[in-house]
Amino acid sequence: MALNLSGRSFLTLLDFTTEEIEYMLELSKDFKNLKRMGAPHRYLEGKNIVLLFEKTSTRTRCAFEVGGMDLGLGVTYLDPGSSQMGKKESIEDTARVLGRMYDGIEYRGSDQSIVEELADKAGVPVWNGLTNEYHPTQALADILTMREEFGDTRGLKLTYLGKEQGNVSDSLMVICAKLGINFCSCGPKGDVEGATHFDPELLETCQKIAEENGCTIQLTDNIDEGVKDADVIYTDVWVGMGQAEELWKSRIKLLSPYRVTSEVMAKANPNAIFMHCLPSFHDIKTTIGAEIAEKFGVTEMEVTDEVFESDKSRVFQEAENRMHTIKAVMYATLR
Ligand code: CP
Repeated sequence: MALNLSGRSFLTLLDFTTEEIEYMLELSKDFKNLKRMGAPHRYLEGKNIVLLFEKTSTRTRCAFEVGGMDLGLGVTYLDPGSSQMGKKESIEDTARVLGRMYDGIEYRGSDQSIVEELADKAGVPVWNGLTNEYHPTQALADILTMREEFGDTRGLKLTYLGKEQGNVSDSLMVICAKLGINFCSCGPKGDVEGATHFDPELLETCQKIAEENGCTIQLTDNIDEGVKDADVIYTDVWVGMGQAEELWKSRIKLLSPYRVTSEVMAKANPNAIFMHCLPSFHDIKTTIGAEIAEKFGVTEMEVTDEVFESDKSRVFQEAENRMHTIKAVMYATLR
């Protein structure tokens, strides 16, 4: 099923058909096998890419760097303080400069409109490494992880616990709808300070896609209903990258009932797994975790340490899969 995605940008999964997403997942599986076998796959030797990070990263940056090097690509990393973009040079001009030097551009930052403008002006593929709205490479890795666990994912149920809107939950809703996976967002109904519920237009679009693919999108604030029949329990940090620290207090109050605990896992399917995009506040071994513990007396946030470390947890396999899926996206669009 070799499809031609050459020259395409990867900005949101909404831009890709079910078949195209399946193709990238198949490629990811192949690249993971090649890596496991130690078989060289420097298929893009002679090409160069640039990674533009306006926000910090461990997984995404390393996945693009190692994935790129495995493919034979030259890789330049520009950290949040070392490019002119936005400060002394417009997005448009930056895109036109980088597009003349590089064969592909990765961008992590704030508004989706920035990655879209880069893609519009660069003349080379641009990959979304996380914006406020979407995190599409994360969603691809999540599905690869689910397939390694369950085989066919069609008809499974993924429940996301926490507030509705977020770049990870948005992308999961899109990919689940495209691939026939039942998606449930389980979180507080009322206003969540500093956050919104799903954009109604996105929700409607996903509901239509889900209907075409024989799956459902469920929104509930009831944990028993949300996790019932779930094959995957998924969560993310309560205050996202770049969001105000003042939000912690209200988020802890509103979202604590939606913490993933062993009791929550026990309400899901017996073979259900736990997933998280990482990083996670499951203990106080981080500066922020320790500060929150001191300030609010909370030592575990979106997931308990017990679940995070349990045999149900697939979080590190999921993190590794970022590399295989990102490699597939780069290869498919640069080949
Ligand atoms: N999940 C994820 O995007 O991790 P990083 O922020 O470390 O890239």
